Amino acid sequence: MIRIVEVGPRDGLQNEKSILATEDKFQFISALADSGLKSIEVTSFVKAPAIPQMADANELFSKVKTELFDSGVSFPCLVPNLKGYETAKKLGVKEIALFTATSDSFTKKNINATVDESFERMREVVEEAKKDKIMVRGYVSTAFGCPYEGTMDVKKLISVTKRLFELGVYEVSVGDTIGVAIPMQVRSYIRALKSEFPIGKLAMHFHDTRGMALTNIYVSLEEGITTFDSSAGGLGGCPYAKGATGNVATEDVWYLLQSQGLDTGIDIAKLAEASRFILGKLGRPTESKFLKAYLSTGKI
Ligand code: HMG
Ligand code: MG
Repeated sequence: MIRIVEVGPRDGLQNEKSILATEDKFQFISALADSGLKSIEVTSFVKAPAIPQMADANELFSKVKTELFDSGVSFPCLVPNLKGYETAKKLGVKEIALFTATSDSFTKKNINATVDESFERMREVVEEAKKDKIMVRGYVSTAFGCPYEGTMDVKKLISVTKRLFELGVYEVSVGDTIGVAIPMQVRSYIRALKSEFPIGKLAMHFHDTRGMALTNIYVSLEEGITTFDSSAGGLGGCPYAKGATGNVATEDVWYLLQSQGLDTGIDIAKLAEASRFILGKLGRPTESKFLKAYLSTGKI
């Protein structure tokens, strides 16, 4: 069984210019939960002017809590600092995702802090989360390459991953934020990671900016990775990484995995409907090759 962490409502929508109604985001999340996805990142408790699409985080999460918490799905939310954590806790969030990067230039633009400063902030949050029994996932952005610093040395990835595990995150998601990773690099970086950390505690988070995401996932599978982040319909990007298009599409990942006999528990017809709905609200076509074919032919 492969675990998919659906990041469409957060990573997918955060870069979309047209601000969606909270009710439409909720309908999207509800449809994703109904499709069999077991982990859906809902929103971010960040500064509203930084990411305007996430300004309704409180209202959206409250609705998810009231109406979807019985579904057995986990609904993590992104938190950048103690202020975001306090809000998340008050609303009843059960899992948070913290984020840092291998590159100081990127973290400065993204969260107005160096990597070291981001660890100070994350330490404060994790101390509280431990007391409150809230699960913490960690992201490392720019793991393979940075829009400002170019190719990133694997030593930086190992060091930041180690610091995240020392803080107490249960899993580290390795982010190819700007979609520059190539299969040979992915293989060698995963080999380096798995010589230091249990492979079951690592996830891969590929953006498909240069069309390499599925190939990189195939290589990751060969190296033993069993958790992948993806985004319904291929929504996504990062506002602080120019030219970074969507996360790899969940539908494309599903097609690859099922062709390998790997189960995800996803009902593809329901997932496609969730994506069709939100893409309609955004008024944009999908980035997913599979979804395009499926919606026009009705066939897998
Ligand atoms: P800052 O301006 O340095 O913060 O922003 P500050 O502490 O100086 O505070 C300034 C104002 O922001 C104050 O308000 C604070 O209260 C408020 P004022 O007194 O001026 O009215 N503030 C907040 N408001 C709401 N929620 C908060 C919060 N914190 C402070 N949590 C900050 C620093 C981190 C807040 C800001 O830079 C920020 O929100 N950044 C968000 C960046 C972001 O969400 N990026 C995208 C997600 S990361 C990603 O996509 C990568 C990933 O997908 C993996 C991959 O692909 O690699 C995860
Ligand atoms: Mg991302």
